[in-house]
Amino acid sequence: MLKADDKLTVVTTADGSRTLQSGAFGQAYGSQHGAAAEARHVFLDGAGVQARLASGLDVQVLEVGLGTGLNFLLTADAALQAGAALTYRAFEWRLPPAGMLGELAYGAQLASPGLWDAWLAWAGEVEETTPSSGVTTVSLAGVQLEVAWGDAWPDHQPSAGAADLLARGPVDAVYHDAFSPQANPALWEEAFLQALASVLRPGGRLATYSVAGRVRRALKEAGLTPVKAPGPPGGKAEMLQAVKPELV
Ligand SMILES: C[S@@+](CC[C@H](N)C(=O)[O-])C[C@H]1O[C@@H](n2cnc3c(N)ncnc32)[C@H](O)[C@@H]1O
Repeated sequence: MLKADDKLTVVTTADGSRTLQSGAFGQAYGSQHGAAAEARHVFLDGAGVQARLASGLDVQVLEVGLGTGLNFLLTADAALQAGAALTYRAFEWRLPPAGMLGELAYGAQLASPGLWDAWLAWAGEVEETTPSSGVTTVSLAGVQLEVAWGDAWPDHQPSAGAADLLARGPVDAVYHDAFSPQANPALWEEAFLQALASVLRPGGRLATYSVAGRVRRALKEAGLTPVKAPGPPGGKAEMLQAVKPELV
């Protein structure tokens, strides 16, 4: 399903924040009901990251689909505001063009000086080098970002880059923000969800917007406890949080 010629367009969502619409996947990167509101509710709050940062605890996040960077930027901003360390790992097939990311104007959502500019400068460098495999590690305004490029799950197994990221140690939170199971089935396969579950530390949480029955069953099979929770205001009625049980 990955296409080199994806046509991306900027769209404005219900809360005034912008996102991108993918022609190849026929879906938007963030919710049309409010991209920034969804990111905060489903991912930062849903995965317990905001609460952990507010307690001054360091956080490690793994995201499926860095995309526009909105989830990353809001999480990085929350970490910088809390004075907590954040390591953010992400799978991403290909970053959208830097000029288009600039049009999304996410700087208006951020309180941390330098974060937005550092993100855009880095996106410009990525555009020049067009990485399609391997892992890039960068520090953006003091936040560690590690990205595995290219198809994260070719032929029902992790790419070398994805395997590298998965082996870097446990994470407190997984943001599963791929396109929908119908549009992007490989990233919802049982074995892929199992790989995500395996890197969560006990007590850690996977958050996603999909409440599909087969996703819930696969996460349960992987040892997590999936629970439906109310979705973002004005958006989808439900979302999913799947907790890894604490060790006893
Ligand atoms: C819904 S968007 C993610 C939105 C993002 N979290 C944000 O904050 O804007 C899904 C992302 O998954 C990426 N993607 C799709 N299939 C992929 C694959 N097989 N491997 C890695 N990334 C993939 C797309 O390029 C896209 O950026």
